[in-house]
Amino acid sequence: MNGPTASRRDGPTSAIRPRRVLGIETSCDETAAAVVDAGATIVSSVVSSQVDVHARYGGVVPELAGRAHVELLTPVVADALARAGSDESGRGIDAIAVTHGPGLVGSLLVGVAGAKALGLAWGVPVVGVNHLEGHLFASLLEQPDLGWPLVVLLVSGGHTLLVAVTAPGTYRLLGQTIDDAAGEAFDKVARFLGLGYPGGPAIDAAAESGDPRAFDFPRAFLAEGYDFSFSGLKTSVVNTVRKHPEATVEDVAASFRQAVVDVLVAKARRAAADVGATALCLAGGVAANSLLRRRVEEACAEDGLGAFLPSRSLCTDNAAMIAAAGWFQLQRHPEGSPLDLGADPNLRLPDSSRGGAAPAVPIVAAD
Ligand code: KG4
Ligand code: ZN
Repeated sequence: MNGPTASRRDGPTSAIRPRRVLGIETSCDETAAAVVDAGATIVSSVVSSQVDVHARYGGVVPELAGRAHVELLTPVVADALARAGSDESGRGIDAIAVTHGPGLVGSLLVGVAGAKALGLAWGVPVVGVNHLEGHLFASLLEQPDLGWPLVVLLVSGGHTLLVAVTAPGTYRLLGQTIDDAAGEAFDKVARFLGLGYPGGPAIDAAAESGDPRAFDFPRAFLAEGYDFSFSGLKTSVVNTVRKHPEATVEDVAASFRQAVVDVLVAKARRAAADVGATALCLAGGVAANSLLRRRVEEACAEDGLGAFLPSRSLCTDNAAMIAAAGWFQLQRHPEGSPLDLGADPNLRLPDSSRGGAAPAVPIVAAD
């Protein structure tokens, strides 16, 4: 994309608090760009999914994802700008927020390099955003008046985290998966059942017409702590189907989905009570799951908690949540990130209870 070389203000170190932010997201298999006003109003949001590129391999192929981002980034950014009444000169855009981790390194690099090039051409700051923090900000886009503290259940293809949020930008990691992420379990079981990729939506759809009590799959650590484990459940599904070849895909899908959701909801609910949370929030791609959404709403009604379920398009990867998280960072650091901002495939969620940027518990990268 060709932009003007002259800065429209005093350059990236300007201390003016940016208002209108272009977000860029390329951490996995969605190429996304969005324009968000004051961290709260989505002016435009464009997501180009690479599902077709990866479907025949049954999962994301990192090399193909990186190449697809190279092809798609320019048109996707141009589309988001045009829908926001801007153009390739970046008219009206005050800053750029870009996901710089965690994720696939080759994919992250495409977004980071693109954001830096545009930032230099337009003379606006560029801020690196943690993808996980982006997911946590998705609810704020639709519910700006959330009360604190909150418990967020972040469930995606690469992560399963329970996080206490005491204020925007202040997080305490309560628990995470010790093996597969919840979305990964959905994808692997779907592949085994021949439901294709991505597996979560396919299992969700099949489960709607199945019997959730057909099979009693294991619910790991149901009553203990906040960590999760889904690999035993996946193995149990495989063994059960081999033992019962007559089982219908719908019944297996419904019983599997029920087991995952039982564990997620039980722990999130217990965490909310322990933390004294005012509300429970869902985030990440698995938050699009119909049963999880229904069960969280019911549990919150019973427990007198607010339930914040972002719309499905904000649960899965998008750039509006990155722009919102970036805007928040820019309020404290209007100059943005240094020019040597790099991609960090293993970036962790900043955990305030562990002294800021480097929590002792590693958060695994999306795969
Ligand atoms: O947040 P996301 O778009 O990308 C990552 O950062 O991983 O999440 C993608 C994951 C995939 O594993 C996909 O199968 C899962 O979210 N997913 C679902 C549903 N929709 C997407 N899982 C269960 N039920 C769904 N309806
Ligand atoms: Zn994600």
